[in-house]
Order: sequence, then C-alpha cells, then structure tokens
Amino acid sequence: MRFVRTNKLQAGMITARPIYHGRDLMLNANRSITADMITSLKRNDFSGIYVYDEFSDIEKLGELIDEGLRRDCLQALEHFDTDKVQFFANDIVDSLSKMGSDIAIDMNQLSIYDQSTYEHSLNVALTSTACGIGMGLSNDRLVRLASGAMLHDCGKQAIPHSILNKPGALSEEERIKIERHPQYGYDMLYNREEIHPESRAITLCHHENWDGSGYPKGLCEHEIPLLARIVHVADVYDALLRKRAYKDKFSQTESIEYLMGGCGTLFDYDVVTTFLDYIVVYPVGCEVRLSDGRIGRVVANTPRHIERPSVYVDGQVLDLANDMDLLSLLVVGEVGEEE
Ligand SMILES: [Fe+2]
Repeated sequence: MRFVRTNKLQAGMITARPIYHGRDLMLNANRSITADMITSLKRNDFSGIYVYDEFSDIEKLGELIDEGLRRDCLQALEHFDTDKVQFFANDIVDSLSKMGSDIAIDMNQLSIYDQSTYEHSLNVALTSTACGIGMGLSNDRLVRLASGAMLHDCGKQAIPHSILNKPGALSEEERIKIERHPQYGYDMLYNREEIHPESRAITLCHHENWDGSGYPKGLCEHEIPLLARIVHVADVYDALLRKRAYKDKFSQTESIEYLMGGCGTLFDYDVVTTFLDYIVVYPVGCEVRLSDGRIGRVVANTPRHIERPSVYVDGQVLDLANDMDLLSLLVVGEVGEEE
C-alpha cells in the first residue's frame, strides 16, 4: 500500500484503510474511490489516504489503537467526560504497552483523518504515551500521562473561537487571553477526583519552556513536571504538522528539525531524543535511494532504529537495521511531505 497525497488521488484507487472524518466513517477499506470522494477529501483538508498497490502483501503497517477505541476517545473528549477519558487512558496504555518495542508512529496514519482539536488531543496522548514508554515510566504514570495529554487543552473551551482561529497576528490582549488556557484547564479539572493531580499538572504546565520563557509560570528545566515536558514536545510536534488559520503545516522533516533545534531552549533534550525514537521518518510505501544508488521502497519500520527501515529492492527485502553496509537514505518520493 502507499500513502497518496490528496491532490494525487485518482478515481478507481482502492482504499487500504477506512477513512474517518472525526467519528464519522466516510469510506470503508477495500472501496473504490470516486471523483466526488476526492473532492470531499480536498474540501475537508485531508493530506492524503492509504491505497492498495502491488506491494501490499509484504508491507507492515502497524496500528497504535483500534478504530473503536479511537472513536470512543474522541467522543469522551467532545463531551468532556473525564470519567471516560480516564477509563480510555488505561486502554491506550494497554494497547501501546502490548506493542512494546514494536511502537513506530507514522504521523501520516494519525493526522490524515481530520483537523479537529479532539484529533489533535488524541494524537498528543498517543505520541506522549509512546515517549513515556521509551522513558521507562511505570504503568500508573503512563495512564496519568495519557489522560492528562488528552485533556491538556481543555481550558481552550473558555477562549473564544474568534481568538483561537484568528488568521492574523494576535493583539496583546488576545495573547494574554490565550495564555490563560492552561490555568483555565487546571481549574476545570480541579474538582474532578478521577483526574490525578499529576495529570492536572500537565494541563497547567504544557506550555512551559525548558529555559523559563514559557507560560503561565515561567518554570524552567526540572521545575517543569516531567509529564508536562513530554506533552509539550508531543503537542508542538502534532501542531506543526497541522494547518491552522494562522499558519501552514510544516513537513515532517521540518517538524523534526524544529524539535531538535528547540532542545535546551523550548524542550528537554532527553524527552526530544526519546520522542524521536518512535517517529517514523520513512513511512511505509515511500521510495528511497540507498547509499549504493539503488531505488527501493520502504515496507516496514524498525522501532528504535527508525532511520533504518526494511526496504524492498531488486526483488528482496533488505533490513537496513541489520545491514550496516548500506548507509544513508535519500527520500525520492517522500510521503506526506510538501511537493
Ligand atoms: Fe495548549
């Protein structure tokens, strides 16, 4: 299968995965795409979808959580049902913990559905939890991390949409209002006993920067709770990949560079390096050039060796994680990136 950008889709291609818009199913897997569907995907700002092709039998595309849990989480967030958020946080941790060392996050899979706040919150929970697993957190703390990450922006409910989605520059007054959302969120969760204080602290501190330049308190380095430092990285990463009223989306490569460039100023270096261990650089289906000049195609990713995927070339699959003779990869047809 391969990821095809929306503007390259053609009627008659076969979907390899179900396509959801929020919680609504737009088209199931194994269905032929129509011209109307392509128009609808463009109108809803989908970056692309996965379609079948001749490589589908040998490709491995893991799923972090199943569609049922994904939709349950989105519904709980939409209704601000914190009991259910807490409940589903357990399920997210169970699901990712079972994958263990096989976690490899392809953001194309996570961000293709739609651009809603709830999708963003769920993505942040998934990527934060993966990072937490990599940092060796206990199961209890992982659940607190997942629930706090899902709720990290709940305080935005108290900010007018006209400010949140303003296309141009914010006035000083508007900026101050937006910067109150961590405190609003913390206050909203304060009397919710099902939400652990460590999860609430994520809501309060997810915009604090490593060098003290963040908000609302200007905490620095280890004064910032670890779980909030993780969510800060996951939040910025997912936000960079999305189009907003006030910005275009970054490519995956640009977003990774942004995280690396922000180590020591915006972000905790240890968190960023662990986070990037799980982010797929070469998504399944993309064409790559090996250091010996041959052109191949990524068929699987190797967790923790994310820069060395398995590549189908000349009729065989090469596992680059176990073949140190072949070095760098240049992306030929990078998936999910800008033209
Ligand atoms: Fe936020």
